[in-house]
Amino acid sequence: MPRVRVHQHVNPLSPFYRFTPQPIEIIKIFASPQLPIHLDIGCARGRFILKMAEMFPDCNFLGVEIREPLVAEGNRLARESNLTNLHYEFNNATYSLDKLLENLPADVLHAVTIQFPDPWYKKKHAKRRMVNDDLVETIVKHLKFDGKIFVQTDVDFLAEEMFEIFRENQNLSEIEISKNPFPIKTERETAVEEKELPIYRAMFIK
Ligand SMILES: C[S@@+](CC[C@H](N)C(=O)[O-])C[C@H]1O[C@@H](n2cnc3c(N)ncnc32)[C@H](O)[C@@H]1O
Repeated sequence: MPRVRVHQHVNPLSPFYRFTPQPIEIIKIFASPQLPIHLDIGCARGRFILKMAEMFPDCNFLGVEIREPLVAEGNRLARESNLTNLHYEFNNATYSLDKLLENLPADVLHAVTIQFPDPWYKKKHAKRRMVNDDLVETIVKHLKFDGKIFVQTDVDFLAEEMFEIFRENQNLSEIEISKNPFPIKTERETAVEEKELPIYRAMFIK
């Protein structure tokens, strides 16, 4: 089946994307809801968590993405691959991730990844960037004690900006890392590595 065609970017501030989602019920989306959850925010086509879900059957993987057709495609692939530990949700993480995770038990979210979020280079578009104080607060609120957050980007100013927001959070400590701790690379990571461009990475623990 051909890949779904989507807009390269969507504006998360536009009214269409400022909707209130139904909170997820893990009992409905995962076959074994008691397993720890890895949340990948801005997962695009979701191949990173698809491969992770195959490799780690003892973990549930939840992808959140603002471009709805990619979510439908991801869930179709999960079904076709018989992966009952993988699910994608249409969500504007900057606006309504907290609502989406409202019913999540306190001790299940053990890992969060944010990988190569859109940089929105122009100053006038800075408000469209995904990582802001509210998003970090939301992640920290739902992350279990000793849960980890991994963030990576190839854009230097964005790395500085995002890492600073995480560093300022009193409930997080930074863990030094020298490489990507995960065995799978995202599509964007592979593309950046092929061009031999630098990648900035940071990891935090609650
Ligand atoms: C540059 S892509 C990176 C995709 C993937 N993480 C990777 O590393 O290959 C950034 C992704 O974040 C999604 N995104 C941007 N803003 C978002 C938001 N507010 N909520 C959820 N997803 C968002 C975009 O639609 C896009 O798929």
